[in-house]
Amino acid sequence: MDFNITTESPEKQPTSCVAVGVFTLHHLSPAAKQADTASRGYITTLLKRGDLEGKAGQMLMLYNVPGVQAERVLLGGCGSETELTDNRFREIVAKMIATLNEAGVTEAASYLTELPVPDRDAYWKLRQSVEVAHETNYRFTLLKGKNDIPRQSLKQLALSIPAKQAATGDNKAIREGQAIAHGVMLAKDLANLPSNHCTPAYLAEQAKELQKTYTSIKVKVLDEAQMKKLGMGALLAVARGSREPPKLIILEYKGAEPNKRPIALVGKGVTFDSGGISIKLAASMDEMKFDMSGAASVLGTLAALAELALPLNVVGIIPSTENMPGGNAVKPGDIVKSLSGQTIEILNTDAEGRLILGDALTYAERYKPAVVIDIATLTGACVVALGQHASGLFSNHEPLGEALLAAGKKSGDRAWPLPLWEEYQKQLDSPFADLANIGGREAGAITGACFISRFTKRFKWAHLDIAGTAYRTGNKKGATGRPVPLLVQYLLDQC
Ligand code: BES
Ligand code: MN
Ligand code: ZN
Repeated sequence: MDFNITTESPEKQPTSCVAVGVFTLHHLSPAAKQADTASRGYITTLLKRGDLEGKAGQMLMLYNVPGVQAERVLLGGCGSETELTDNRFREIVAKMIATLNEAGVTEAASYLTELPVPDRDAYWKLRQSVEVAHETNYRFTLLKGKNDIPRQSLKQLALSIPAKQAATGDNKAIREGQAIAHGVMLAKDLANLPSNHCTPAYLAEQAKELQKTYTSIKVKVLDEAQMKKLGMGALLAVARGSREPPKLIILEYKGAEPNKRPIALVGKGVTFDSGGISIKLAASMDEMKFDMSGAASVLGTLAALAELALPLNVVGIIPSTENMPGGNAVKPGDIVKSLSGQTIEILNTDAEGRLILGDALTYAERYKPAVVIDIATLTGACVVALGQHASGLFSNHEPLGEALLAAGKKSGDRAWPLPLWEEYQKQLDSPFADLANIGGREAGAITGACFISRFTKRFKWAHLDIAGTAYRTGNKKGATGRPVPLLVQYLLDQC
């Protein structure tokens, strides 16, 4: 889908549909008022008659409105003018896009970008419109029959800004929105792909595809033998039960001088988490194909970063494996030695994410990173704590935590802080090894993060637990592409 900026007034748009907002109590947005004036009160007449209340998300398509050049005018209900929140704005735009597609409209102009969203500027509304449009249009159809693909007619969307406000920065909003949306879609495609297709080797191939597309990205893939030689005993313990060979995928993005220390993004890439010998219950086990969503978000973020050619150095590190039971699988009580030298008592083989992340984070040290952010579908406990609306955020460096929190707020891909207090660390004590891989029933998201913190002493680090945010369950089951918007925003903020 393509986007452009327009400063033309709605009645003069030479397009097939103009979308304008209408608030409750028949209160017209400025663009709706302009169209109404051009049509000599046609729209007010309809509203008075009761055709549209103006409730948020209500849509009414009008045809051949007098005095308006476009073939159609779409009235979009916006609710009360004083309650136009970020999320409501996104919902209204989504509804508009869906309605345009249902009507078979190929090109349209949206004036919803002029709606007054408190504390949000034109840049935000433009960028969000681009992201929401892609979000609404996204379907995972790779493995579906051709007849089952819904209509997506909309190809070109003009986004309006008032002529007097037009600034040179506006195309930046579209460019950045497009890059984020492309990154989100890549992350969604990878995460939605089931584990018989999306294996560790497949993720490595996808990284190499990025290297082909962007000269700024260089990829290195370590195999099992190389990891063994390095001493990645924790990662390899998880991989033991699977027939699929594990991979450590490393992507180096160079956009700044070589001596500038990189930002490291480390993404959990468990392509299927059966739990291993501590096997999971059967219900919803299919959703554990999404257990590589952290890895997918790293690939999506690097793709967006390269598309925008941001002046940063970033390294993506993806430890990838399946977690399966098998004759050779790691067993509860087994003790392994991690790359850091610390020994780990694996009391539950289902707490595997932290094991592979521990080794990947130790590996990250060699890049002397400015900061390290790991992204992982780490704990069911985080879903219980925060639900699907916020990713859990942990950090050993307050300014980094604050920066990620702010990036989440700006991008609409929010995170929320949880504590990493010393008191919780005791829960990981083991009588037989340096630490255990589980910390008991209490504070599961925190003890998971505490485990990872044992491997991050040498740098500034933050951990995003995306178990609740990376994918939706139920009848809308599917990957969300989160937290690509948050991560790209964070990177944009570093430029
Ligand atoms: N991948 C899961 C976490 C998860 C659970 C993600 C539900 C999304 C939805 C992780 O590997 C896991 O199994 N964690 C265990 C840890 C426990 C054994 C300490 C969990 O959360 O139950
Ligand atoms: Mn698990
Ligand atoms: Zn897992």
